[in-house]
Amino acid sequence: MTDSDLPVVCTAIPLSDYARGRLEPNCDIRDVTGCKPGELPASIDEAEGFLCGAPYMMGNDILDAAPHLRVIANHGVGFDNVVVSELNERGIVCCNTPGVLNGAVADLTLGMMVSIARRIVDHSDFVAAGEWGKSRPAGLGFDLAGKTIGIVGFGRIGRTVAKRARGFDMDIIFHDQFTDPGEDDDCSYAELDDLLKRSDFVSLHTNLSPETTHLISTRELEMMKDSAYLINTARGPVVDTDALAAGLKAGLIAGAALDVVEAEPPNGDEAILSAPNTIILPHVGSATVETRQAMLQMALDNLLAVLAGKEPRACVNPESLEKAYQRR
Ligand code: 8YV
Repeated sequence: MTDSDLPVVCTAIPLSDYARGRLEPNCDIRDVTGCKPGELPASIDEAEGFLCGAPYMMGNDILDAAPHLRVIANHGVGFDNVVVSELNERGIVCCNTPGVLNGAVADLTLGMMVSIARRIVDHSDFVAAGEWGKSRPAGLGFDLAGKTIGIVGFGRIGRTVAKRARGFDMDIIFHDQFTDPGEDDDCSYAELDDLLKRSDFVSLHTNLSPETTHLISTRELEMMKDSAYLINTARGPVVDTDALAAGLKAGLIAGAALDVVEAEPPNGDEAILSAPNTIILPHVGSATVETRQAMLQMALDNLLAVLAGKEPRACVNPESLEKAYQRR
């Protein structure tokens, strides 16, 4: 608490008028959006709440400097920016925004697949280069119908991708470390190696954890068909990016579409940036007006609820809620 008696909340995301309207009556807001990565926000020592995008790392340096911190409200579903056991130790809860971005991420996944299959980027580049009428456009694309999509990570987003893929008449197989093998409507479970061998598109929808870091590397790329494509809208480190760049160059697979890479933004010298048949987007899976607003609303609901000693809409470590309430 400060002189205003309102809890200090640091925000690492720029606030819209809507967000300001919700926070101002309840918090003493400190804008830390100008802080460079690794730099400690000046007002962090007073902060009870922290609002941030999912990639904002909440490491021990920040936690040590913020002894009053009770809630980290992630504007995103991923929570690989925190170490949950560390938060539990300190009585800090981390809230996230599951559910509201499934459709947007799934739309982008299918969008990239359609773009690959119908060579949308190649054709657009051809016209933009003034080549229409002068030379021949890229060759024929292919139908998604009848092709197999292998969905790795069959949670909320993976299942929404399956729903979209059904609409394209694709065959669907999935692998998930948490879901028991079995049939799920018309989708069938496959062991990861089997899925890699059978899929025309391998689409990644796992969280990032020690188990999923570099889940896809040279061995896995070698198992994939040389005509197959890898799609990653999950987290960059799920794929060993250097191995992928080398695999694409060697023709192990036909191409890749990545919404996420290991370093975001990239340093500029990564081999993947010039790999053949690769589309790279700047982590925009959830970037629609409707979805970002729903995420913001949920993140603010979560933040304000915990600060007021109430149950948040979503929390990755509910076991620490009581401790966080008591630290008021
Ligand atoms: C955004 C995300 O990148 O939800 C996630 O886990 O990665 C994304 O939706 C981000 O969190 C927006 O702030």
